[in-house]
Amino acid sequence: MIIAIDGPAAAGKGTLARRLADHFDLALLDTGLLYRAVGMNLVRAGADPDDAAKAAEAARNLKPEDLEAGDLRDDAAADAASRVSAVPDVRAALLDFQRSFAAEPPGGTRGAVLDGRDIGTVVCPDAESKLFVTASPEVRAERRYLELRERGLDAIHGRVLADMKERDARDSERTVSPLEPAKDAFLLDTSDLDADQVFAAALDFINGNN
Ligand code: CDP
Repeated sequence: MIIAIDGPAAAGKGTLARRLADHFDLALLDTGLLYRAVGMNLVRAGADPDDAAKAAEAARNLKPEDLEAGDLRDDAAADAASRVSAVPDVRAALLDFQRSFAAEPPGGTRGAVLDGRDIGTVVCPDAESKLFVTASPEVRAERRYLELRERGLDAIHGRVLADMKERDARDSERTVSPLEPAKDAFLLDTSDLDADQVFAAALDFINGNN
């Protein structure tokens, strides 16, 4: 059983993915973390995340322990991720890892939930259930702002919205694996829904598929 969840930043993918993985007892892979780790490995080495050759090398050298770094949730990591993720060789280097995770989930579970930008379109095009989770940019910026403040980080609302719009544009306009719904994806707009309502709507869709 593979559940593919895609969508823009702070649309609610992560929360939904975790709840679905718990509910169906599936392994969970937040694929954004892979791109964030590649981006931060470059930043920490003093390299430019827009340097395609260095980014590809960093993706090929990514180690499981790199995913444990404490700063991967910060906005600097999100920015670096959205830069390295436009590099075709970076995406190719991370594809095998993601597909192996889906084919043979760790812990021997009967399947996996993967969330990202191109899971339903590229990584797992044969997934039984594909969800494309969205919300208005204003709602998503508000969620990200509150999340940053909750973590004790300084955040300015207008800045968060501007950064998010910039990242959305980069993710949607890149030539490799741009952010777009798979043709058979269930579109779930979470602008006016709380986490329980999003989970209930996703469950209805998935149970109808299986
Ligand atoms: O949590 P949030 O939605 O803000 O970001 P994320 O899912 O951790 O992804 C960070 C960045 O990585 C995105 O803006 C994309 O540029 C990139 N990404 C990607 O290209 N493909 C994926 N499957 C996952 C993330």
